[in-house]
Amino acid sequence: MITYLNNAATTFPKPPEVIEAVRACLERPPGEPGRSGGGEDPTQACRQALAELFHVPNASQVILTPSATYSLNQVIFGLLQDEPGAHVVTSTLEHNSVLRPLEHLRRRQGTVVTHLEPGADGTLDPSELLSTVREDTRLIAVTQASNVTGCVQPIEVFSQFAADAQIPLLIDASQGAGAVELDYGALPGRVFVAFAGHKGLFGPTGVGGLIMPDDRLPQTFVGGTGVQSENPMHPTELPLRHEAGTMNLPGIAGLTAGVNFVRRRGIDELGRQRAELVRTIRHRLEPLPGVRLSPLAHDDGRAGIVSFTLAGWPTEELGYLLQESYGIEIRSGLHCAPKVHAGMGTSSGGSIRVSVAAFNSLSDVEQLASAVGAAVEAPCAK
Ligand SMILES: Cc1ncc(COP(=O)(O)O)c(C=O)c1O
Repeated sequence: MITYLNNAATTFPKPPEVIEAVRACLERPPGEPGRSGGGEDPTQACRQALAELFHVPNASQVILTPSATYSLNQVIFGLLQDEPGAHVVTSTLEHNSVLRPLEHLRRRQGTVVTHLEPGADGTLDPSELLSTVREDTRLIAVTQASNVTGCVQPIEVFSQFAADAQIPLLIDASQGAGAVELDYGALPGRVFVAFAGHKGLFGPTGVGGLIMPDDRLPQTFVGGTGVQSENPMHPTELPLRHEAGTMNLPGIAGLTAGVNFVRRRGIDELGRQRAELVRTIRHRLEPLPGVRLSPLAHDDGRAGIVSFTLAGWPTEELGYLLQESYGIEIRSGLHCAPKVHAGMGTSSGGSIRVSVAAFNSLSDVEQLASAVGAAVEAPCAK
């Protein structure tokens, strides 16, 4: 039996209804619903469930993609590839799925990137936009919650500042979705939201999504859609405008079931449960000699993440010990977000990241605390 505390990578276990939805989809004779064939349309059901979850005015604004990474790339390249030398504001909290597209653009066409740094409490200050935004700023890209510290960011305030400056805002909701409320309809300005389907939304891997403010983003992927085949150009209306090729229908069916699970349990309740477990983890680890915890602003642990290091233990060794000797699945290293570690002083080995979700209990986090307690007593021999 493993104790799974790596939900920020992907949630496990998946709710039984998600597994059942994937199986049922694979058992049905394949049609091309909503495209050239008949049958019910799983993509439409998924868009509708997601639109209701995120309070998106129109379900056609929800694009289904293979992952948050694809969604982020579509917005970043879509907005910037025809604007050599343009300026972007982002943050040091971002995942490589934001940092790397921007670095590629920097090397390819001189995109200029400003990285906002979080304060000591792990949150970004949106008012810093006032001094960083320039005449040629074409995008502001920030995460809803850091995948290393779990700190929830003031995206509503970012949205207001971005709207005032008339600059598009890209929110990476990969870690917040399903545990931190996101009221898309209430966000002012031109806002794109990218999210993963396999984390807090409990879908299978291989599905994600992107909420679109309008149908003006240049297309990145074009090809078959099953409709308008006589047209040499890809359709321009949402959602097909940004969806090309055969869709991952089993994954999409699973994501719909995952989103419905989240809606039934309630985002507030799921966030409250995670925050409670985070509070216990921090409370139990904080007094241990040599433990250094990541910051957490306002005791807001809704994203369900805690990072830490332990003096006397290289992070990788401690991760190995927890996994091999105690059966506790966590993640060690930089977690695909290298810049945030500079501020935390953990750039060399990274941190141990513990992440909880709906199926974790107090007993799971107590096991972790006892295992770390034992490691404190027995420093690494290497
Ligand atoms: C904050 C953040 N953004 C983006 C991603 C990329 O998600 P995916 O691998 O599903 O594309 C992750 C995944 O860990 C993440 O934590």
